[in-house]
Amino acid sequence: MKTTIAQVGRYVNEQVTIGAWIANKRSSGKIAFLQLRDGTGFIQGVVVKAEVPEDVFALAKSITQESSLYVTGTVREDERSPSGYELSVEQIELIHQATDYPITPKQHGTEFLMDHRHLWLRSKRQHAIMKIRSQIIRSTYDFFSERGFTKLDSPILTGSSPEGTSELFHTKYFDEDAYLSQSGQLYAEAGAMALGRVFTFGPTFRAEKSKTRRHLIEFWMIEPEMAFVEHEESLEIQEQYVAHLAKAVLDHCQLELKQLGRDVTKLEAIKAPFPRITYDEALDLLKEKGFDDISWGDDFGSPHETAIAEHFDKPVFITRYPRSLKPFYMQPAPDRDDVVLCADLIAPEGYGEIIGGSERIHDYDLLKQELEKHNLPLDAYGWYLDLRKYGSVPHSGFGLGLERTVAWLSGTEHVRETIPFPRLLNRLYP
Ligand code: 4AD
Ligand code: MG
Repeated sequence: MKTTIAQVGRYVNEQVTIGAWIANKRSSGKIAFLQLRDGTGFIQGVVVKAEVPEDVFALAKSITQESSLYVTGTVREDERSPSGYELSVEQIELIHQATDYPITPKQHGTEFLMDHRHLWLRSKRQHAIMKIRSQIIRSTYDFFSERGFTKLDSPILTGSSPEGTSELFHTKYFDEDAYLSQSGQLYAEAGAMALGRVFTFGPTFRAEKSKTRRHLIEFWMIEPEMAFVEHEESLEIQEQYVAHLAKAVLDHCQLELKQLGRDVTKLEAIKAPFPRITYDEALDLLKEKGFDDISWGDDFGSPHETAIAEHFDKPVFITRYPRSLKPFYMQPAPDRDDVVLCADLIAPEGYGEIIGGSERIHDYDLLKQELEKHNLPLDAYGWYLDLRKYGSVPHSGFGLGLERTVAWLSGTEHVRETIPFPRLLNRLYP
């Protein structure tokens, strides 16, 4: 029976054939252990000299790392194996013999591994992270579809800049100027006025000269936008969404979490509701913790976010930031003109901000005034202002950074490992 490693549990004590690669190998005079991988998982193949034809054992001994093969054998239950199974190999058909695979089983430096990212993806660890990433994407579609959201695709080539003008990738659009999208939000707002509740999911680009473990130049963002939803209700949807993701990873990625050595008790605690503190309260907390380098109106950096997060065992919303720190589209608080109805969601364990969101200004005159204050060209934003001209309604939305969320849930230190081919300050290859 032709099958995959993920499916072998259906064929215990039966003979199966699997198309696979050699991830690693050990052998002695009498036995060879083949670490097989096929993309769906990893399994150990055991080749016993006394039990197979001579040429099969000779091949098992000489086969090199990353060679491809069809392997036939009997599935055995094995308690010591992480997957619970082992393969007693009976036949091997070599497809392609690999020579001098650069990523040998020894330790390699990060730059070397990043230069070989196209091959590094084959490793157990990277495999586990990509599976978790894929699960989070799938659970995102499930979560929003079940709640009546429509998936809306926003453009990548744009003429406007939602998150400020300093981090834009500029390009030519024939004779016009264009920018790579920093965020699909403004288009999602138009979508919300047409479809009620929408979410976008796509690549976004920031020409940020930041070289930190949380910053990518190209990253993927999920941006829900909801008509008739005010700030507090948006926070409730955010915490349910994030709790849903944590649960989905726990439910479907046990093997991957084990492979990565993730402390799952930390993820089991991720249940709604999440704590909320205002920017002002966060500032007091930081002062208590001995940060005296920061005063009202300053943005929080990574050390500040980490210190605040340490105070809680769940993600925490920091709400009502100073207006001066946030983009033009955020709704000022009804009781205070100097703060906005926004929230950043800070992940536990030092993973930093995973969501930024807010209620949006829905008053035409106020929005126009804010655009002018931020020196944004009114003609480029005419269509966005139109949304406040024809049946404007209160609405809110948020953006969740996929890679930071994958890093947090999988327990991966640096976001560069959470996207197949990271674009970093000094890296456009491979
Ligand atoms: O806080 P940001 O900039 O918010 C927006 O773009 C809003 N327009 C979203 C919205 O309301 N629809 O980005 C949102 C999230 C951050 O919380 C973070 O998780 C992620 O996107 N993010 C990055 N991830 C990796 N690398 C970067 N350079 C990132 N910049 C933001
Ligand atoms: Mg932000």
